[in-house]
Amino acid sequence: MSVFAPQRMVLRDGSEVILRCFRPEGDMASWCEMIRSCSRETLWRRFELRSADIILSRPRDFCKCEPGSDFILVAEREGKLLGEARLCLFPDGETAEFCVLVADPWQGLGLGSLLTDTALEAARRLGVRRLVVEVVPENVRIVRLLGKRGFSFRRDPDGRIFRGEKIL
Ligand SMILES: CC(C)(COP(=O)(O)OP(=O)(O)OC[C@H]1O[C@@H](n2cnc3c(N)ncnc32)[C@H](O)[C@@H]1OP(=O)(O)O)[C@@H](O)C(=O)NCCC(=O)NCCS
Repeated sequence: MSVFAPQRMVLRDGSEVILRCFRPEGDMASWCEMIRSCSRETLWRRFELRSADIILSRPRDFCKCEPGSDFILVAEREGKLLGEARLCLFPDGETAEFCVLVADPWQGLGLGSLLTDTALEAARRLGVRRLVVEVVPENVRIVRLLGKRGFSFRRDPDGRIFRGEKIL
Protein backbone atom coordinates (compact mmCIF):
# COMPACT_ATOMS: atom_id res chain seq x y z
CA MET A 1 0.00 0.00 0.00
CA SER A 2 1.37 3.41 -0.90
CA VAL A 3 0.76 5.74 2.05
CA PHE A 4 2.94 8.51 0.79
CA ALA A 5 3.56 10.15 -2.56
CA PRO A 6 6.59 12.49 -2.72
CA GLN A 7 5.75 16.09 -1.85
CA ARG A 8 7.61 19.31 -2.57
CA MET A 9 7.68 21.66 0.44
CA VAL A 10 9.03 25.14 1.05
CA LEU A 11 11.07 25.91 4.18
CA ARG A 12 11.03 29.15 6.14
CA ASP A 13 14.05 30.48 4.19
CA GLY A 14 12.23 29.96 0.87
CA SER A 15 14.28 26.90 -0.13
CA GLU A 16 12.59 23.71 -1.32
CA VAL A 17 12.82 20.14 -0.10
CA ILE A 18 11.18 16.95 -1.24
CA LEU A 19 9.57 14.76 1.40
CA ARG A 20 9.56 11.14 0.30
CA CYS A 21 9.95 7.61 1.65
CA PHE A 22 13.44 6.37 2.50
CA ARG A 23 14.87 3.94 -0.06
CA PRO A 24 16.96 1.33 1.79
CA GLU A 25 18.95 0.43 -1.32
CA GLY A 26 19.79 3.92 -2.56
CA ASP A 27 19.79 6.19 0.49
CA MET A 28 22.25 4.62 2.97
CA ALA A 29 25.25 6.71 1.87
CA SER A 30 23.23 9.95 2.04
CA TRP A 31 21.82 8.91 5.40
CA CYS A 32 25.37 8.43 6.76
CA GLU A 33 26.33 11.83 5.33
CA MET A 34 23.37 13.37 7.17
CA ILE A 35 24.53 11.77 10.44
CA ARG A 36 28.02 13.24 9.87
CA SER A 37 26.50 16.72 9.70
CA CYS A 38 24.77 16.34 13.09
CA SER A 39 26.23 17.81 16.28
CA ARG A 40 26.90 15.60 19.30
CA GLU A 41 23.92 17.24 21.00
CA THR A 42 21.56 16.38 18.14
CA LEU A 43 22.81 12.77 18.09
CA TRP A 44 22.29 12.56 21.85
CA ARG A 45 18.73 13.83 21.58
CA ARG A 46 17.86 11.38 18.83
CA PHE A 47 19.96 8.27 19.60
CA GLU A 48 21.14 8.82 23.21
CA LEU A 49 24.66 8.55 21.78
CA ARG A 50 27.06 11.43 21.26
CA SER A 51 29.39 9.76 18.78
CA ALA A 52 28.64 9.60 15.07
CA ASP A 53 31.38 6.95 14.78
CA ILE A 54 29.33 4.40 16.70
CA ILE A 55 26.32 4.97 14.46
CA LEU A 56 28.40 4.98 11.28
CA SER A 57 30.21 1.76 12.25
CA ARG A 58 26.90 -0.11 11.89
CA PRO A 59 24.49 2.26 10.16
CA ARG A 60 22.04 -0.43 9.16
CA ASP A 61 21.35 -1.21 12.82
CA PHE A 62 20.40 2.44 13.38
CA CYS A 63 18.58 2.83 10.11
CA LYS A 64 16.50 -0.32 9.87
CA CYS A 65 13.68 -0.14 7.40
CA GLU A 66 11.76 -3.35 7.78
CA PRO A 67 8.95 -3.58 5.23
CA GLY A 68 5.66 -3.58 7.08
CA SER A 69 7.12 -2.47 10.39
CA ASP A 70 8.92 0.81 9.71
CA PHE A 71 7.88 3.92 7.86
CA ILE A 72 10.73 6.35 7.23
CA LEU A 73 10.13 9.73 5.72
CA VAL A 74 13.13 11.75 4.54
CA ALA A 75 13.62 15.35 3.46
CA GLU A 76 15.86 15.54 0.41
CA ARG A 77 17.44 18.39 -1.47
CA GLU A 78 19.63 17.75 -4.51
CA GLY A 79 20.47 14.22 -3.42
CA LYS A 80 21.29 15.25 0.16
CA LEU A 81 19.19 14.11 3.12
CA LEU A 82 18.48 16.95 5.55
CA GLY A 83 16.25 15.14 8.04
CA GLU A 84 13.95 12.23 8.69
CA ALA A 85 10.90 11.19 10.67
CA ARG A 86 10.03 7.61 11.35
CA LEU A 87 7.30 5.41 12.67
CA CYS A 88 8.28 2.01 14.06
CA LEU A 89 5.12 -0.04 14.04
CA PHE A 90 4.54 -2.38 16.97
CA PRO A 91 3.26 -5.94 16.40
CA ASP A 92 -0.17 -4.97 17.80
CA GLY A 93 -0.71 -3.09 14.52
CA GLU A 94 -2.12 -0.08 16.38
CA THR A 95 0.88 1.49 18.08
CA ALA A 96 3.95 3.13 16.59
CA GLU A 97 6.99 4.81 18.08
CA PHE A 98 7.70 8.18 16.54
CA CYS A 99 11.04 9.93 16.20
CA VAL A 100 12.38 12.83 14.18
CA LEU A 101 15.78 14.27 13.33
CA VAL A 102 16.87 17.37 11.45
CA ALA A 103 20.62 17.73 10.85
CA ASP A 104 22.05 20.87 12.44
CA PRO A 105 22.60 23.03 9.34
CA TRP A 106 18.87 22.86 8.58
CA GLN A 107 17.36 23.22 12.04
CA GLY A 108 15.11 26.17 12.79
CA LEU A 109 13.68 26.40 9.26
CA GLY A 110 10.42 24.60 9.95
CA LEU A 111 11.60 21.22 8.66
CA GLY A 112 11.13 19.36 11.97
CA SER A 113 7.54 20.62 12.10
CA LEU A 114 6.90 19.61 8.48
CA LEU A 115 8.35 16.13 8.96
CA THR A 116 6.36 15.65 12.16
CA ASP A 117 3.04 16.77 10.67
CA THR A 118 3.58 14.63 7.57
CA ALA A 119 4.51 11.56 9.63
CA LEU A 120 1.41 12.03 11.83
CA GLU A 121 -0.72 12.13 8.70
CA ALA A 122 0.98 8.96 7.38
CA ALA A 123 0.38 7.26 10.75
CA ARG A 124 -3.35 7.91 10.42
CA ARG A 125 -3.33 6.45 6.92
CA LEU A 126 -1.45 3.38 8.16
CA GLY A 127 -4.20 2.79 10.71
CA VAL A 128 -2.05 3.66 13.73
CA ARG A 129 -4.21 4.50 16.75
CA ARG A 130 -1.54 5.38 19.32
CA LEU A 131 1.83 7.09 18.93
CA VAL A 132 4.52 6.89 21.59
CA VAL A 133 7.81 8.74 21.89
CA GLU A 134 10.76 8.66 24.29
CA VAL A 135 12.88 11.76 24.79
CA VAL A 136 15.61 12.87 27.14
CA PRO A 137 14.16 15.36 29.67
CA GLU A 138 16.41 18.23 28.56
CA ASN A 139 14.92 18.08 25.05
CA VAL A 140 12.51 20.94 25.64
CA ARG A 141 12.21 21.75 21.93
CA ILE A 142 10.68 18.39 20.94
CA VAL A 143 8.48 18.26 24.05
CA ARG A 144 7.06 21.65 23.07
CA LEU A 145 6.75 20.72 19.37
CA LEU A 146 4.89 17.48 20.16
CA GLY A 147 2.91 19.02 23.03
CA LYS A 148 1.44 21.51 20.53
CA ARG A 149 0.35 18.49 18.48
CA GLY A 150 -1.52 16.81 21.31
CA PHE A 151 1.17 14.57 22.85
CA SER A 152 1.06 14.29 26.63
CA PHE A 153 4.30 13.55 28.49
CA ARG A 154 5.17 11.93 31.78
CA ARG A 155 8.56 11.40 33.36
CA ASP A 156 9.78 7.85 33.99
CA PRO A 157 10.08 6.99 37.72
CA ASP A 158 13.88 7.13 37.50
CA GLY A 159 13.66 10.56 35.84
CA ARG A 160 15.92 9.55 32.93
CA ILE A 161 13.30 9.61 30.17
CA PHE A 162 10.15 11.52 29.25
CA ARG A 163 7.53 9.30 27.65
CA GLY A 164 5.01 10.92 25.34
CA GLU A 165 1.79 9.57 23.95
CA LYS A 166 -0.83 10.70 21.50
CA ILE A 167 -4.06 8.91 20.61
CA LEU A 168 -4.89 9.50 16.97
C1 LIG B 1 13.60 18.72 17.40
C2 LIG B 1 13.95 18.98 15.93
C3 LIG B 1 13.50 17.81 15.08
C4 LIG B 1 13.24 20.25 15.49
O1 LIG B 1 13.55 20.45 14.13
P1 LIG B 1 13.60 21.92 13.48
O2 LIG B 1 13.62 21.79 12.02
O3 LIG B 1 14.70 22.69 14.12
O4 LIG B 1 12.19 22.45 13.99
P2 LIG B 1 11.34 23.68 13.46
O5 LIG B 1 12.20 24.64 12.71
O6 LIG B 1 10.13 23.13 12.81
O7 LIG B 1 10.96 24.36 14.83
C5 LIG B 1 10.19 23.66 15.78
C6 LIG B 1 10.06 24.54 17.00
O8 LIG B 1 11.34 24.63 17.64
C7 LIG B 1 11.73 25.99 17.76
N1 LIG B 1 13.16 26.09 17.49
C8 LIG B 1 13.78 25.76 16.34
N2 LIG B 1 15.09 25.99 16.46
C9 LIG B 1 15.28 26.47 17.72
C10 LIG B 1 16.43 26.88 18.46
N3 LIG B 1 17.65 26.86 17.93
N4 LIG B 1 16.25 27.27 19.72
C11 LIG B 1 15.04 27.28 20.28
N5 LIG B 1 13.91 26.90 19.63
C12 LIG B 1 14.05 26.51 18.38
C13 LIG B 1 10.96 26.73 16.70
O9 LIG B 1 10.76 28.08 17.06
C14 LIG B 1 9.65 25.97 16.64
O10 LIG B 1 8.79 26.41 17.65
P3 LIG B 1 7.41 27.07 17.21
O11 LIG B 1 6.60 25.96 16.59
O12 LIG B 1 6.86 27.54 18.51
O13 LIG B 1 7.75 28.15 16.24
C15 LIG B 1 15.48 19.21 15.76
O14 LIG B 1 15.88 20.24 16.63
C16 LIG B 1 16.31 17.98 16.02
O15 LIG B 1 16.54 17.17 15.14
N6 LIG B 1 16.78 17.83 17.26
C17 LIG B 1 17.64 16.71 17.61
C18 LIG B 1 16.94 15.36 17.52
C19 LIG B 1 15.73 15.31 18.40
O16 LIG B 1 15.63 16.00 19.41
N7 LIG B 1 14.80 14.45 18.02
C20 LIG B 1 13.61 14.23 18.80
C21 LIG B 1 13.71 12.93 19.54
S1 LIG B 1 12.49 11.85 18.91
